[in-house]
Amino acid sequence: AYVIAEPCVDVKDKACVEECPVDCIYEGPRTLYINPNECVDCGACEPVCPTEAIFYEDDLPDDWAWYKDAAVNFFNEVGDQGGAQAFGPIDHDEPTVAKLPADIN
Ligand code: F3S
Ligand code: F3S
Repeated sequence: AYVIAEPCVDVKDKACVEECPVDCIYEGPRTLYINPNECVDCGACEPVCPTEAIFYEDDLPDDWAWYKDAAVNFFNEVGDQGGAQAFGPIDHDEPTVAKLPADIN
């Protein structure tokens, strides 16, 4: 799956959301999360992110590799909802993301 990494945190441009054909990019308070169970690896989101936050999971920079696990954790916590725009924003961040410093970006 594709993964949203650090440049999204507290930025949340959301250009990616409009591009996703399966609507699998979910909004939390500090970042958005791609559901790895729902993403079909189309890659449409990656080039439209103005902060270059989106990577294929095998192409994540080493420092940001943990964002792949954070996404897995997040959807284990909140479940698979089958459509982000209908479900709406989720009032929860994955714990590692939630603990990031306020001045991270
Ligand atoms: Fe974040 Fe980029 Fe999408 S900043 S919300 S991953 S367009
Ligand atoms: Fe959607 Fe991006 Fe996956 S557009 S299907 S989240 S690669």
